[in-house]
Amino acid sequence: MIAVTDSGVGGVSVLRELVRLLPGEDFWYFGDTANAPYGTKTREEVLAIVTENVRMMLFCGAEAIVLACNTATGAAAAALRETYPDVPIIGIEPALKPAAMVSPHPRVLSMATPLTLRQEKYAALEARFAETADIVDLPCPGLMELIEAGHLDDALLDAYLDELLAPYRDVPFDACVLGCTHYPHAWRAIARHLSAGCVILDGGEGTARETARRLAAAGLLSGRTAGGTVRFSNSRGDEATDRLARQLLEQE
Ligand code: DGL
Repeated sequence: MIAVTDSGVGGVSVLRELVRLLPGEDFWYFGDTANAPYGTKTREEVLAIVTENVRMMLFCGAEAIVLACNTATGAAAAALRETYPDVPIIGIEPALKPAAMVSPHPRVLSMATPLTLRQEKYAALEARFAETADIVDLPCPGLMELIEAGHLDDALLDAYLDELLAPYRDVPFDACVLGCTHYPHAWRAIARHLSAGCVILDGGEGTARETARRLAAAGLLSGRTAGGTVRFSNSRGDEATDRLARQLLEQE
C-alpha cells in the first residue's frame, strides 16, 4: 500500500498522476485537514505534524510514502528519510527546472505557500536557476483554503486572483510554476489571469514517475497493470472532504 498525503485535497493532483501511471497499485490518500493549512505555519510545526502522520501511516501498513505537498517536503522529507532509511519517501518540489527551460532566459512566476518560499530547500533550488531565468516568487496565503472549500473556478476565486496578481498584470511571464499541490485544481482560473502563451507547470507527473522508479527499485510494485484501489481518509473524519477528493481524482 502506497500512502499519499497532504494537508487536504491538494495532493490529489499528484495522486491522479500516480493512479494513471500505476493503475494496478493500492493507494491510501490521507488529507491532514485537522492541521491545515501547513503553508502559514512554521517549519518546526510542519515537521512535527508530518513526522507524526508518517509514523501513523507506517503503523497502519503503508510501504511507501508520497509527500504530495511541497510545503511538507521542504520541512520534513530530509529528516524522515534519515529516520526511515528503508522506506521509500518521495517528495515534490516546485517545477522550477522545467520552467527555466521553456525559453532562453524566461520570466517565471513561482506561486507557492509562504512557508515553501521561505525554506532553505527552495532557496537552494532557485539559486540553481538564478543565471538562466528571472524568477518572481509569489506567496499565496489563503489560496489553498479557497480550493479546499471547493472554489475551483468561480467569482470568489477570481476576486482573490485579481488582487494577488494585480502587480503583475502587465508582465508577460513565459512560465508559471504551481508550487503547491492544491493549485493545479484551480488551473483554469489561474490560467485566465496570466498572459496568453504562459506555460503552466506543476510537479505532479514528475513525482509520479519518481515514485514508480523508487518503488520498482525497492521491489514494491505489485506487477499488476489494472485493478488497483484508492482509499480516502482525512484527519477530521469529514465525509465532504473525502467526497471532494474523489471528485477531484476523477477530474481531468
Ligand atoms: N498542498 C500543499 C503544498 O503543496 C500546501 C497547502 C497548505 O498550505 O497546507 O504546498
